[in-house]
Amino acid sequence: MAKFAAKLGEIDLSGIRKLFEAAGSDAINLGLGQPDFETPRHVREAAKRAIDAGFTGYTHGKGILKLREAIRQKFLRNNGFEVGVEDIIVTSGASEALHIALEALINPGDGVLIPDPGFVSYFTLTKIAGGIPKSLKLDENFRLDPDTLAEEIQPNDRVLILNSPSNPTGKVQNRADIRAYTEIAKDYGLTIISDEVYEELIYEGSHVSPASFTEDVVTINAVSKTYSMTGWRLGYMGAPPDYIEEMLKVHQYIQACASSISQFAALEALTGPQDCVSSMRDEFKARRDLLVGGLNRLGFEFPIPEGAFYLFLKVEDEMAFVSKLLENGVVTTPGSSFGRNGRGYVRLSYATSGADIERALKIIEEVWVRDR
Ligand SMILES: Cc1ncc(COP(=O)(O)O)c(C=O)c1O
Repeated sequence: MAKFAAKLGEIDLSGIRKLFEAAGSDAINLGLGQPDFETPRHVREAAKRAIDAGFTGYTHGKGILKLREAIRQKFLRNNGFEVGVEDIIVTSGASEALHIALEALINPGDGVLIPDPGFVSYFTLTKIAGGIPKSLKLDENFRLDPDTLAEEIQPNDRVLILNSPSNPTGKVQNRADIRAYTEIAKDYGLTIISDEVYEELIYEGSHVSPASFTEDVVTINAVSKTYSMTGWRLGYMGAPPDYIEEMLKVHQYIQACASSISQFAALEALTGPQDCVSSMRDEFKARRDLLVGGLNRLGFEFPIPEGAFYLFLKVEDEMAFVSKLLENGVVTTPGSSFGRNGRGYVRLSYATSGADIERALKIIEEVWVRDR
């Protein structure tokens, strides 16, 4: 008899982690999926105050009321939809929110439609929930064409995952397309899970939440990327009451509640001064421009990323590119880590300093471009 669950047989530990482990400590890291800034000081101070004031016990399962109120207002102000404080769950990062949403929605064998290339967790969490991940092909500009979506839907499909701005492509889907996805989802009875963790990191275009058009949406966000708080493990989700009731069952038993200290930090992040967000955004934009300009000068052509902090680059031989650069001290991520349609690409993260981006460009020129 097998010792471990068969569903895990198909799951590999993240390819991205493996690459980090193979790289030396002085490597230039274009593999990172997190901002390289410190968490803003006022947020750190709020966490210290919470510890000193003794806010170190379990909280309400859905999260402290003040934080849920701040999230409610944020959804209304920035995302154009209304939920009550009861319709919000604070989670351990967006990761937990994705997990409990899929656990609550999927029966064994149900299909989950996932833009491919897409964030690696969507495929894996779908399998853990017993569902079947189904790749949605993107066009050459990484746009999900609404007609492609409509053509791909099968009777057993239950969920559509959207992620704009996207990891790994940096694509920001436009308002008309988002509206079209919501209409299609409605016609076919699909629930949308909208992962909006890169909402504040947009350089071209603007953010549109599917929940501003339709009801059957689980909207997921986090303070992780917006406030450089990945290690605090603090995310949140808003959805109609019947969804929340079911997702809370999973949350209550796998997590109880999100970290009390991180909840106070997140409250300060969401309600305190927001200039830290715009200065991080400005810095990412400057780095994006540096990387885009450098790669163009080396003769690469690619859709210019509009958001997040990734550039998805087509290369002749993905694994040769990744290993050649790794041998020369630059970490990148193979596109195939993000689904089968990511094959033939590499993801370059610009969550690293401008000086490192320039050094990396030089190395790409020396060990890749000159050899071709
Ligand atoms: C698209 C996307 N969603 C969710 C997450 C996970 O976010 P968190 O750290 O809040 O769990 C990431 C992290 O890389 C991501 O890129």
